[in-house]
Amino acid sequence: MTETPKAVANSAQSEYWNAKAGDAWTQNQAIMDHLLSGPGRRLFEHAAIKAGERVLDIGCGTGATVLAAADAVGPEGGVLGIDLSHAMLDLARSRAKQHAGTAELMFEIADAQSHQFAAGRHDLLLSRFGVMFFEDPTAAFANLLTALRPGGRLCFVCWAPMAENPWFFIPRDAAIKFLGAPEAAPPRAPGPLAFADTDYVTEILTGAGFRDISVLSETVDLTPISDLIEAADYALNIGPASRIIANHDPSPETLAAIGAEIESRLSVYYDGTDEARVPSSLHFVQARRP
Ligand SMILES: C[S@@+](CC[C@H](N)C(=O)[O-])C[C@H]1O[C@@H](n2cnc3c(N)ncnc32)[C@H](O)[C@@H]1O
Repeated sequence: MTETPKAVANSAQSEYWNAKAGDAWTQNQAIMDHLLSGPGRRLFEHAAIKAGERVLDIGCGTGATVLAAADAVGPEGGVLGIDLSHAMLDLARSRAKQHAGTAELMFEIADAQSHQFAAGRHDLLLSRFGVMFFEDPTAAFANLLTALRPGGRLCFVCWAPMAENPWFFIPRDAAIKFLGAPEAAPPRAPGPLAFADTDYVTEILTGAGFRDISVLSETVDLTPISDLIEAADYALNIGPASRIIANHDPSPETLAAIGAEIESRLSVYYDGTDEARVPSSLHFVQARRP
């Protein structure tokens, strides 16, 4: 039987992450985790997780950061991963079963905005790119605050503006070149770049009741798959190009042309060594429950 979240405030996002997007992330889990390993490592440096802590991973997806948090909290600690996507959470669960760690690991299909969390249970709310998809972000963070003990902390990473992130603008530009620009969405609409404006993030967290808010903007390398052709193909299936492509029904020739354009523009980041590096501009956000 399919597990359904008790209350879904973000039904459009639930549909999105339970269709092609969730499948693509699940099928490409190893590629995605490699791509995002740099931001993930930096997130953990900022989060400074201590042994014995209880961590709530928001939008944990296929579970990489849940497993890393489990290693950090050790046998006395625990990690709860929540997500809207059944496919992604199923994979997270099966990875956790094979993980050698001893921390208590739990997963729940849940909408972070509306889920009723055990009050004050967690020391840390953690997220790698999982908190920018809320219809009402202030309500979502106010709800998440209830899951934190007083003095507990929030630490997440999100994307800075599109113009500073070639991994976003190259595939998007390529799709637009062949399919035309999509209807302009409001800049803060739920989506990967919704938190690009740091003043907006601070406003949300303040409104939700967090204090000691800090935002550090840093450049961190993404590490896409070493095969450039595969990387371009992958950019057709996940991310901003895929969102534009999904609204058209492009011919195989058009898709190939978009892929070739992505490949040509990404090639500057491929210097023939094993590891391609694409600089990404990120915000690392921290705050506390008073
Ligand atoms: C960009 S993915 C990141 C996944 C994972 N954190 C990682 O770094 O691999 C965003 C994740 O947030 C989840 N998500 C989006 N809105 C959510 C919500 N309201 N409640 C819980 N999870 C949500 C999605 O299902 C998806 O797994």
